[in-house]
Amino acid sequence: MNRLSVDHLLGIKGLNNNDLELIFDTAKKFKEVINRPIKKVPSLRDITIANLFFENSTRTKLSFELAEKRLSADVLNFSASGSSINKGETLEDTVNNILSMKVDIIVIRHPNSGAPFFLSKKIKSKIINAGDGVHEHPTQALLDCFSLIEKIGDLKGKNVALVGDILHSRVALSNIYALNLLGAKVMVCGPKSLIPKHIESLGVVVEKDLIKALRWSDAVNMLRVQNERMNFNYFPTAREYSQLYRLDRNKLNLINKQVTVLHPGPINRGVEISSEIADSKNAIILDQVENGVAVRMAIIYLLASNMNNDLE
Ligand code: NCD
Repeated sequence: MNRLSVDHLLGIKGLNNNDLELIFDTAKKFKEVINRPIKKVPSLRDITIANLFFENSTRTKLSFELAEKRLSADVLNFSASGSSINKGETLEDTVNNILSMKVDIIVIRHPNSGAPFFLSKKIKSKIINAGDGVHEHPTQALLDCFSLIEKIGDLKGKNVALVGDILHSRVALSNIYALNLLGAKVMVCGPKSLIPKHIESLGVVVEKDLIKALRWSDAVNMLRVQNERMNFNYFPTAREYSQLYRLDRNKLNLINKQVTVLHPGPINRGVEISSEIADSKNAIILDQVENGVAVRMAIIYLLASNMNNDLE
Protein backbone atom coordinates (compact mmCIF):
# COMPACT_ATOMS: atom_id res chain seq x y z
CA MET A 1 0.00 0.00 0.00
CA ASN A 2 1.44 3.37 -0.93
CA ARG A 3 -1.54 5.42 0.21
CA LEU A 4 -2.44 6.65 3.67
CA SER A 5 -5.72 5.31 5.03
CA VAL A 6 -6.76 8.83 6.10
CA ASP A 7 -7.47 12.12 4.29
CA HIS A 8 -6.24 14.30 7.15
CA LEU A 9 -3.67 13.85 9.89
CA LEU A 10 -5.83 14.69 12.91
CA GLY A 11 -4.19 12.31 15.35
CA ILE A 12 -2.35 9.01 15.65
CA LYS A 13 -5.68 7.53 16.69
CA GLY A 14 -7.22 6.50 13.39
CA LEU A 15 -3.90 5.49 11.77
CA ASN A 16 -2.87 1.89 11.26
CA ASN A 17 0.46 0.04 11.08
CA ASN A 18 0.70 0.41 7.31
CA ASP A 19 0.30 4.17 7.62
CA LEU A 20 3.19 4.36 10.07
CA GLU A 21 5.37 2.11 7.93
CA LEU A 22 4.59 4.19 4.83
CA ILE A 23 5.33 7.47 6.64
CA PHE A 24 8.65 6.13 8.01
CA ASP A 25 9.78 4.66 4.65
CA THR A 26 8.96 7.94 2.91
CA ALA A 27 10.67 9.97 5.65
CA LYS A 28 13.83 7.87 5.22
CA LYS A 29 13.96 8.87 1.56
CA PHE A 30 13.38 12.53 2.36
CA LYS A 31 16.08 12.40 5.04
CA GLU A 32 18.54 11.41 2.31
CA VAL A 33 17.30 14.31 0.19
CA ILE A 34 17.77 16.94 2.90
CA ASN A 35 21.30 15.74 3.51
CA ARG A 36 22.25 16.29 -0.13
CA PRO A 37 23.87 19.53 -1.34
CA ILE A 38 20.60 20.28 -3.21
CA LYS A 39 18.04 19.82 -0.48
CA LYS A 40 14.87 20.55 -2.45
CA VAL A 41 12.55 18.40 -4.53
CA PRO A 42 9.92 19.79 -6.93
CA SER A 43 7.18 17.37 -5.72
CA LEU A 44 4.66 19.95 -4.43
CA ARG A 45 5.28 22.82 -6.86
CA ASP A 46 1.57 23.39 -7.43
CA ILE A 47 0.44 23.05 -3.84
CA THR A 48 -0.25 25.90 -1.41
CA ILE A 49 0.00 25.27 2.31
CA ALA A 50 -1.15 27.57 5.12
CA ASN A 51 0.41 27.25 8.55
CA LEU A 52 -2.15 28.51 11.07
CA PHE A 53 -0.63 28.88 14.51
CA PHE A 54 -3.11 29.98 17.18
CA GLU A 55 -0.63 29.09 19.93
CA ASN A 56 3.09 29.69 20.47
CA SER A 57 5.55 27.46 18.70
CA THR A 58 9.19 27.56 17.64
CA ARG A 59 10.34 24.10 16.56
CA THR A 60 7.10 22.77 15.12
CA LYS A 61 6.40 25.91 13.11
CA LEU A 62 9.92 26.17 11.69
CA SER A 63 9.99 22.46 10.99
CA PHE A 64 6.71 22.50 9.03
CA GLU A 65 7.77 25.59 7.10
CA LEU A 66 11.10 24.06 6.18
CA ALA A 67 9.47 20.75 5.20
CA GLU A 68 7.02 22.61 2.93
CA LYS A 69 9.78 24.66 1.33
CA ARG A 70 11.97 21.60 0.76
CA LEU A 71 8.99 20.12 -1.15
CA SER A 72 8.72 23.36 -3.22
CA ALA A 73 5.20 24.18 -1.97
CA ASP A 74 3.97 27.77 -1.71
CA VAL A 75 3.72 28.67 1.97
CA LEU A 76 1.47 31.09 3.88
CA ASN A 77 2.16 31.75 7.55
CA PHE A 78 -0.46 32.96 9.98
CA SER A 79 -0.05 33.61 13.70
CA ALA A 80 -2.99 34.42 15.93
CA SER A 81 -1.18 37.27 17.64
CA GLY A 82 -1.59 40.39 15.52
CA SER A 83 -4.46 38.83 13.50
CA SER A 84 -8.21 39.56 13.30
CA ILE A 85 -8.82 36.84 15.91
CA ASN A 86 -8.35 39.66 18.40
CA LYS A 87 -11.26 41.44 16.67
CA GLY A 88 -13.66 38.58 17.40
CA GLU A 89 -13.50 36.53 14.18
CA THR A 90 -14.44 32.83 14.52
CA LEU A 91 -12.02 30.03 13.64
CA GLU A 92 -14.23 28.93 10.74
CA ASP A 93 -14.38 32.46 9.30
CA THR A 94 -10.64 32.95 9.58
CA VAL A 95 -10.01 29.67 7.84
CA ASN A 96 -12.63 30.23 5.12
CA ASN A 97 -11.00 33.55 4.30
CA ILE A 98 -7.65 31.88 3.98
CA LEU A 99 -9.20 29.13 1.86
CA SER A 100 -10.69 31.65 -0.56
CA MET A 101 -7.07 32.30 -1.39
CA LYS A 102 -6.99 28.68 -2.71
CA VAL A 103 -5.09 26.84 -0.05
CA ASP A 104 -4.73 23.06 -0.45
CA ILE A 105 -3.38 21.99 2.93
CA ILE A 106 -3.81 23.56 6.37
CA VAL A 107 -1.39 22.92 9.21
CA ILE A 108 -3.06 24.01 12.41
CA ARG A 109 -1.96 24.41 16.02
CA HIS A 110 -4.76 25.44 18.34
CA PRO A 111 -5.23 25.72 22.13
CA ASN A 112 -8.63 23.96 21.92
CA SER A 113 -8.60 20.17 21.78
CA GLY A 114 -10.56 19.03 18.74
CA ALA A 115 -10.11 22.21 16.65
CA PRO A 116 -8.48 20.38 13.69
CA PHE A 117 -11.25 17.74 13.75
CA PHE A 118 -13.91 20.49 13.76
CA LEU A 119 -12.27 22.13 10.75
CA SER A 120 -11.96 18.88 8.83
CA LYS A 121 -15.75 18.59 8.94
CA LYS A 122 -16.28 22.15 7.70
CA ILE A 123 -13.80 22.69 4.90
CA LYS A 124 -12.39 20.83 1.93
CA SER A 125 -8.61 21.23 2.39
CA LYS A 126 -6.44 18.58 3.96
CA ILE A 127 -5.81 19.27 7.64
CA ILE A 128 -2.65 18.44 9.58
CA ASN A 129 -2.83 18.73 13.36
CA ALA A 130 0.29 20.46 14.70
CA GLY A 131 -0.93 20.15 18.30
CA ASP A 132 -4.46 20.69 19.64
CA GLY A 133 -4.78 21.66 23.30
CA VAL A 134 -4.08 18.73 25.60
CA HIS A 135 -5.25 16.22 22.99
CA GLU A 136 -2.83 15.06 20.24
CA HIS A 137 0.40 16.12 18.55
CA PRO A 138 0.71 13.41 15.90
CA THR A 139 3.73 14.69 13.95
CA GLN A 140 5.72 14.89 17.21
CA ALA A 141 4.92 11.26 18.07
CA LEU A 142 5.83 10.15 14.55
CA LEU A 143 9.19 11.91 14.65
CA ASP A 144 9.83 10.57 18.17
CA CYS A 145 9.18 6.99 17.05
CA PHE A 146 11.14 7.43 13.81
CA SER A 147 14.14 8.75 15.78
CA LEU A 148 13.88 5.99 18.35
CA ILE A 149 13.75 3.25 15.71
CA GLU A 150 16.81 4.82 14.06
CA LYS A 151 18.66 4.61 17.40
CA ILE A 152 17.50 1.28 18.93
CA GLY A 153 15.84 -0.56 16.03
CA ASP A 154 12.39 -2.19 15.85
CA LEU A 155 10.28 -1.09 18.83
CA LYS A 156 8.38 -4.38 19.11
CA GLY A 157 8.77 -5.52 22.73
CA LYS A 158 10.93 -2.51 23.69
CA ASN A 159 10.18 -0.66 26.93
CA VAL A 160 9.49 3.05 26.55
CA ALA A 161 8.58 5.38 29.44
CA LEU A 162 6.96 8.79 29.12
CA VAL A 163 7.97 10.83 32.15
CA GLY A 164 6.56 14.03 33.63
CA ASP A 165 3.37 15.98 33.04
CA ILE A 166 1.30 13.34 31.29
CA LEU A 167 -1.99 15.05 32.18
CA HIS A 168 -1.39 18.19 30.09
CA SER A 169 0.74 16.63 27.36
CA ARG A 170 -0.57 16.09 23.84
CA VAL A 171 2.84 14.58 23.07
CA ALA A 172 2.16 11.85 25.64
CA LEU A 173 -1.20 10.79 24.22
CA SER A 174 0.05 10.67 20.62
CA ASN A 175 3.15 8.75 21.73
CA ILE A 176 1.04 6.20 23.59
CA TYR A 177 -1.05 5.52 20.47
CA ALA A 178 2.01 5.35 18.19
CA LEU A 179 4.11 3.17 20.51
CA ASN A 180 1.17 0.80 21.01
CA LEU A 181 0.80 0.46 17.23
CA LEU A 182 4.51 -0.29 16.90
CA GLY A 183 4.34 -3.02 19.54
CA ALA A 184 6.38 -1.25 22.25
CA LYS A 185 5.51 -1.61 25.93
CA VAL A 186 4.59 1.78 27.35
CA MET A 187 4.94 3.15 30.88
CA VAL A 188 3.92 6.57 32.15
CA CYS A 189 5.80 7.98 35.13
CA GLY A 190 5.18 11.15 37.14
CA PRO A 191 3.52 12.51 40.26
CA LYS A 192 0.03 11.07 40.77
CA SER A 193 -1.53 14.51 40.27
CA LEU A 194 -0.09 14.69 36.73
CA ILE A 195 -1.21 11.21 35.61
CA PRO A 196 -4.75 11.07 34.15
CA LYS A 197 -7.13 8.72 35.95
CA HIS A 198 -7.85 5.45 34.10
CA ILE A 199 -4.87 5.92 31.76
CA GLU A 200 -4.23 2.16 32.15
CA SER A 201 -7.18 1.63 29.82
CA LEU A 202 -4.87 2.84 27.01
CA GLY A 203 -2.65 -0.18 27.65
CA VAL A 204 0.06 1.59 29.65
CA VAL A 205 1.65 0.81 33.00
CA VAL A 206 1.76 3.57 35.63
CA GLU A 207 4.86 4.02 37.82
CA LYS A 208 5.43 6.88 40.21
CA ASP A 209 9.06 6.05 41.05
CA LEU A 210 11.44 7.38 38.38
CA ILE A 211 14.31 5.06 39.39
CA LYS A 212 12.07 2.01 38.91
CA ALA A 213 10.90 3.42 35.58
CA LEU A 214 14.52 3.92 34.47
CA ARG A 215 15.45 0.35 35.46
CA TRP A 216 12.60 -0.91 33.26
CA SER A 217 13.19 1.37 30.26
CA ASP A 218 15.09 1.06 26.99
CA ALA A 219 14.16 4.68 26.30
CA VAL A 220 12.61 7.57 28.21
CA ASN A 221 10.77 10.55 26.71
CA MET A 222 11.11 13.43 29.19
CA LEU A 223 8.13 15.79 29.05
CA ARG A 224 8.04 19.40 30.16
CA VAL A 225 5.84 20.54 33.03
CA GLN A 226 3.19 22.54 31.13
CA ASN A 227 2.83 25.40 33.61
CA GLU A 228 0.87 27.46 31.08
CA ARG A 229 -1.95 24.87 31.17
CA MET A 230 -2.18 24.70 34.96
CA ASN A 231 -4.55 26.86 36.94
CA PHE A 232 -3.56 25.51 40.33
CA ASN A 233 -0.57 23.75 41.90
CA TYR A 234 -0.19 20.12 40.91
CA PHE A 235 2.91 19.61 43.11
CA PRO A 236 4.32 21.48 46.11
CA THR A 237 7.42 23.13 44.60
CA ALA A 238 9.47 22.99 41.39
CA ARG A 239 12.42 22.00 43.58
CA GLU A 240 10.62 18.94 44.92
CA TYR A 241 9.46 18.01 41.41
CA SER A 242 13.05 18.12 40.15
CA GLN A 243 14.37 16.11 43.06
CA LEU A 244 11.96 13.32 42.24
CA TYR A 245 11.52 13.52 38.47
CA ARG A 246 14.51 15.31 36.91
CA LEU A 247 16.58 12.98 34.80
CA ASP A 248 20.17 13.56 35.92
CA ARG A 249 23.51 11.78 36.33
CA ASN A 250 22.82 10.81 39.98
CA LYS A 251 19.65 8.94 39.06
CA LEU A 252 21.21 7.30 36.01
CA ASN A 253 24.17 6.17 38.15
CA LEU A 254 21.75 4.15 40.27
CA ILE A 255 20.83 1.94 37.34
CA ASN A 256 23.33 -0.18 35.59
CA LYS A 257 22.42 0.27 31.94
CA GLN A 258 22.20 2.68 29.02
CA VAL A 259 18.88 4.41 28.38
CA THR A 260 18.08 6.43 25.26
CA VAL A 261 16.75 9.87 26.13
CA LEU A 262 14.18 11.83 24.10
CA HIS A 263 12.67 15.26 24.70
CA PRO A 264 10.19 17.03 22.39
CA GLY A 265 11.44 20.49 23.40
CA PRO A 266 11.27 23.18 24.60
CA ILE A 267 13.57 21.94 27.38
CA ASN A 268 13.41 23.49 30.82
CA ARG A 269 17.01 22.69 31.66
CA GLY A 270 17.40 21.72 35.31
CA VAL A 271 13.67 21.07 35.83
CA GLU A 272 12.79 17.83 34.00
CA ILE A 273 16.29 17.08 32.71
CA SER A 274 19.80 18.21 33.65
CA SER A 275 21.91 19.96 31.03
CA GLU A 276 24.52 17.22 31.31
CA ILE A 277 22.03 14.52 30.31
CA ALA A 278 20.28 16.66 27.66
CA ASP A 279 23.66 17.11 25.96
CA SER A 280 24.92 13.54 26.52
CA LYS A 281 25.49 10.90 23.84
CA ASN A 282 22.44 8.91 24.89
CA ALA A 283 20.16 11.89 24.20
CA ILE A 284 18.71 12.01 20.68
CA ILE A 285 17.03 15.40 21.12
CA LEU A 286 18.70 17.08 18.15
CA ASP A 287 18.15 13.99 15.96
CA GLN A 288 14.46 14.39 16.77
CA VAL A 289 14.60 17.97 15.45
CA GLU A 290 16.45 16.91 12.29
CA ASN A 291 14.10 13.99 11.67
CA GLY A 292 11.10 16.24 12.27
CA VAL A 293 11.63 17.91 8.91
CA ALA A 294 11.88 14.60 7.01
CA VAL A 295 8.86 13.11 8.79
CA ARG A 296 6.75 16.23 8.11
CA MET A 297 7.85 16.20 4.46
CA ALA A 298 6.65 12.59 4.27
CA ILE A 299 3.25 13.37 5.80
CA ILE A 300 2.63 16.40 3.59
CA TYR A 301 3.79 14.52 0.50
CA LEU A 302 1.58 11.51 1.24
CA LEU A 303 -1.53 13.62 1.99
CA ALA A 304 -0.94 15.61 -1.19
CA SER A 305 -0.65 12.36 -3.20
CA ASN A 306 -4.05 11.34 -1.83
CA MET A 307 -5.34 14.68 -3.04
CA ASN A 308 -4.05 14.08 -6.56
CA ASN A 309 -5.74 10.69 -6.56
CA ASP A 310 -8.99 12.36 -5.47
CA LEU A 311 -8.84 14.54 -8.58
CA GLU A 312 -8.29 11.64 -10.96
C1 NCD B 1 5.43 20.25 22.59
C2 NCD B 1 4.06 20.87 22.39
O1 NCD B 1 3.95 22.02 21.98
O2 NCD B 1 3.13 20.15 22.63
N1 NCD B 1 6.46 20.91 21.94
C3 NCD B 1 6.67 20.69 20.60
O3 NCD B 1 5.78 20.71 19.79
N2 NCD B 1 7.94 20.40 20.24
C4 NCD B 1 5.73 19.96 23.99
C5 NCD B 1 5.82 21.09 24.97
O4 NCD B 1 5.37 22.20 24.73
O5 NCD B 1 6.35 20.82 26.06
